[in-house]
Amino acid sequence: MISFQHSLSSHMLSSLVLIICLSFLVFSLFFFFQNLKSLKKSPRPPGPRGLPIIGNLHQLDSSSLYLQLWQLSKKYSPIFSLQLGLRPAIVISSPKLAKEVMKDHDLECCERPKLLSQQKMSYNGSDLAFSPYNNYWKEIRKICVVHIFSSKRVSCFSSIRQFEVKQMIEKISRHASCSEVTNLNEVLTSLTSTIICRIALGRRYEEEGTETSMLHELLQELEVLLGTFFVSDFIPFMGWIDRLRGLEARVERNFRELDKFYQEVIDEHMDSDSNAPEEEDIVDILLRLKNQHSLSIDLTTDNIKAVIMNILLGATDTTAVTTVWVMTELMKNPRVMKKVQEEIRSLSGRKAFIEEDEVQNFSYLRAVIKETLRLHLPAPLLIPRETSKKCVIGGYEIPAKTFIYVNAWAIHRDPVAWKDPEEFIPERFLNSKIDLHGQHFEFIPFGAGRKMCPGLHMGFATLDIILANLLNFFDWELPAGMKKEDIDTEVLPGITQRKKNHLCVLAKFHLLRNKGRGRQVNGNAYANGNEHASDAKKDSTLTRCAIHNSELLAYHMPTLVHQFNPSIPIEKAVTPPTSWYTHPSFFHRVFYRG
Ligand code: HEM
Repeated sequence: MISFQHSLSSHMLSSLVLIICLSFLVFSLFFFFQNLKSLKKSPRPPGPRGLPIIGNLHQLDSSSLYLQLWQLSKKYSPIFSLQLGLRPAIVISSPKLAKEVMKDHDLECCERPKLLSQQKMSYNGSDLAFSPYNNYWKEIRKICVVHIFSSKRVSCFSSIRQFEVKQMIEKISRHASCSEVTNLNEVLTSLTSTIICRIALGRRYEEEGTETSMLHELLQELEVLLGTFFVSDFIPFMGWIDRLRGLEARVERNFRELDKFYQEVIDEHMDSDSNAPEEEDIVDILLRLKNQHSLSIDLTTDNIKAVIMNILLGATDTTAVTTVWVMTELMKNPRVMKKVQEEIRSLSGRKAFIEEDEVQNFSYLRAVIKETLRLHLPAPLLIPRETSKKCVIGGYEIPAKTFIYVNAWAIHRDPVAWKDPEEFIPERFLNSKIDLHGQHFEFIPFGAGRKMCPGLHMGFATLDIILANLLNFFDWELPAGMKKEDIDTEVLPGITQRKKNHLCVLAKFHLLRNKGRGRQVNGNAYANGNEHASDAKKDSTLTRCAIHNSELLAYHMPTLVHQFNPSIPIEKAVTPPTSWYTHPSFFHRVFYRG
């Protein structure tokens, strides 16, 4: 019995083991074929091998990510995959694939990944840039496009742009009058932030004042934080690392300070007793829309703050860095500088100040700006996207919730799309169909598709007027001992491509120098002091030329008056009315001590 029982139980045991082994085999075969089927159907795009859990995170350097991704695209393919911690990602580096993502599959690919700092700073995605693709985004985008970014609204702000550009000319004239070097990074950053603060907030911060530098520092910190890799975004259970690195505290601090700033601005706008400027600014517009309750969504104060954040961040740096890069490329390419100045000066006639509606005629200037945006686009990786559904890109099935980087920096250098891609040749845009409106995927500095930059017109209006006047008013030279080959194009880390070493150049008054008929006159003669003034007295050609250029002199007048009588501070040496300075006797009084 025992032996029977034993033989039965041993028989049963071996049968059980056999069953388990067989089921394991069937199970394994099932999984093997399942995987083989899915592998056959959707292999992942090639890409570098990563480590368990962290994937490729340890191999990436956020300070020059676009360059690294460009190198990797050459090694793998124009579509390659990465594993960012627990998140799959793909990187797109060709115009054809960019079209697939931003046009053919725009709907499936226009989600924004939820990242810690972006969510916090955008009041949980109540802005445009970091909001999920949903009804709220559609409505807020529609509101902004109609009421803030429309061409009509952009031209309403033209007087602000023109006034501020004149102030800049005045500032550079002061440098020019004493042959002082102008730091274009500083001048242009201050100009663009003043313009956008007036347009958006209705405030003109006093230059170099504590308020300007405070806002500037807050926005710079915001930009750094938005470009920083947070571990919790990619490996959520290791978020404590961000706390240890002090990143969460930095985000919280920056958020609180910016929030306080936005609140003050809003309170000021709601205070009916404050000295409101006549023209509505963007905060006025948003508050008016909020109070009208006529929109399909009820705008909250946080929504308004989030939109203000987008505008301050989206407009200031992008425009400033682009103007700096244009001037950098022009200093490096004297042929192009000469050609663009000739175009501007011949089409503007004798006018010293070029107004916004005249800039439309400068097709070569437009080509110079486009070529600069090709080589030095402010946002080289645009703003990362995420798939909301699975879709096929480049023949690969890309699952939902995959991070997408469109490497516009690499696309703008694609040798198939561009001849001599590394060369600065604005002529390539003359008589070319390629425009900036997101239809030509080899050139996408403003992105494309549903999420394309809505500030294109505003950005261009500012770029045009600044550059046309900088190039019309002054001739530009390098400081003594510096050659054009010494100008570098190194870039600072961050989400916008900013020039690392400041562009410091010498401005010379152009019109004073070249419009004199009798001889070439040193452009700084007027401004350099009394010995030059007495030279000028002898030189009737010079006086004649000065009267012809009375409009130009209007801008230099405070400097001249101050130099003539240093006891009058430059701020008080206001520009006199036109009738004065077109009269020869006024010149005699200014230059020859009355
Ligand atoms: C040279 C100037 C500018 C450049 C190169 C630029 C570039 C860009 C790029 C690449 C994007 C992302 C597009 C995408 O994801 O496909 C973007 C988005 C955006 N830009 Fe601009 N921009 C400029 C000027 C401006 C200005 C002046 C404003 C506002 C006044 C602005 C406001 C925005 C906003 C709000 C978004 C987010 C749009 C959304 O996601 O719905 N930008 N910009």
